[in-house]
Amino acid sequence: MKISTRNIAAKDASSDLLVVDASTAVKLLKPYKLDGALANASDAAGTTTTVALPSNAKAKKLICVAVGGKDRGAADFRKAANEAAKAVKSAGGTSVAWGLSQTVVKGLSVAEKAQMAVTALASELYWYDEHQAGNAKDKSAKRPNRITLLCDERSAKASRAAARYGEALSAGMDLARDLGNEPPNICNPTYLASEARKIARAEKTTLKVLSEKQMLELGMGAFMSVSQGSDTPGKMIIIEYKGGKRGDAPVALVGKGITFDTGGISLKPGAAMDEMKFDMCGAAGVLGATRAVIDAKMPVNLITIVAAAENMPSGGASRPGDVVKTMSGQTVEILNTDAEGRLVLCDALTYVQRYKPKAVVDVATLTGACVVALGSHATGLLANNDDLADELLECGEQTGDRAWRLPIWDEYQPQLKSNFADMANIGGREAGTITAACFLSRFAKDMAWAHLDIAGTAWNSGVRKGATGRPVALLTAWVASHAK
Ligand code: BES
Ligand code: MN
Ligand code: ZN
Repeated sequence: MKISTRNIAAKDASSDLLVVDASTAVKLLKPYKLDGALANASDAAGTTTTVALPSNAKAKKLICVAVGGKDRGAADFRKAANEAAKAVKSAGGTSVAWGLSQTVVKGLSVAEKAQMAVTALASELYWYDEHQAGNAKDKSAKRPNRITLLCDERSAKASRAAARYGEALSAGMDLARDLGNEPPNICNPTYLASEARKIARAEKTTLKVLSEKQMLELGMGAFMSVSQGSDTPGKMIIIEYKGGKRGDAPVALVGKGITFDTGGISLKPGAAMDEMKFDMCGAAGVLGATRAVIDAKMPVNLITIVAAAENMPSGGASRPGDVVKTMSGQTVEILNTDAEGRLVLCDALTYVQRYKPKAVVDVATLTGACVVALGSHATGLLANNDDLADELLECGEQTGDRAWRLPIWDEYQPQLKSNFADMANIGGREAGTITAACFLSRFAKDMAWAHLDIAGTAWNSGVRKGATGRPVALLTAWVASHAK
């Protein structure tokens, strides 16, 4: 999606579709005499009215979106933007102009409005038909792919910056969704490494991929216990982006990249098992955010690590009762081979410490319990550092990609007690999301660390089955907040 800005009035925008705030439409488009056409439009936030413009108009169709009454806030505008994006999709056309500068919203700058508009359009206009007959690039030509943000003199600079950011973010979200949606016979650890290689072609960026042999040498016994059951070799994928000052400590993102989770010997039930292709959405999220950060040329040092493996049952797979040694030296009794995410992540968390990051965020579709606790609206957030947790919560609010914090108090740690190793890999029926994070916290003791459990937010089930692109917006905003 190409996003640009223009300092012109709404009436002068020539595009297939023109989006404006309903409360200003009649006035802004006075020459087109829309009073009659728009007379019956409701002014409840999110209501859209699509009308054809007269032939003397520059644009073809107008989408009026109600943003709400006098004290309209960020939530109203977000709702309006999402509804407008839906109207854009159904109206058809290839170019959209969106008038933002006349839309006054409490507490929102032009840049913030621009970002919301762009994310709404990017999310709504995404589609995936890679493996369907008739998937054709010619169809792509009929979808809006050129967005113009209309601004005035005063907001021109901020709008341009927002457009650049929005373009990078939408590319990152699209990448995360594509990777998530890709079938598991194609999207395996090797595929994730080749996608990372594409990202690492950019300036100031390097890629390192650890093979199973190298991981064995590093002592990553927990990672290998998962990977050993699959014929497809696991990979530890590391992208180093040096956009910041030399010597500035990096921020780090670590993603769970289980490209298919059968549960292993603790085999999952069959129903909806296909959705376990989405078990690499943590990896997709951190790769998407990395793509956005690099595309936007953010002045920040970033380390991204993807722990990529397939969790399969086989003659080589690990058994319940196996004891393995992690790279940290701590031992783990594997009581359930389906709690594999924490096993690949713990070794990645030990590995990332060599970069001395100022903060680390891991992202994982880690527990079904998180879906029970928070459903599909909030990502679970657990952290050993209050400042870091607050930063992430704030970025979630700002982007609409929200998270909610759960505790990791010491009182939960005894649930991980094992009779045969330093810890077990499961903590029993109670507080499954918390005990999973407690497990990870034992590998993140000496750093500011947060964990995002995206089991409920990374994909939709049912007729809208597909990856959502979350939490790319949250992560990108967080990395941006560390850029300078
Ligand atoms: N990938 C799953 C978590 C999951 C399940 C995410 C369903 C989204 C929907 C993870 O590897 C897993 O299997 N977790 C187990 C942990 C349990 C064995 C302690 C779970 O949640 O049941
Ligand atoms: Mn599992
Ligand atoms: Zn899993």
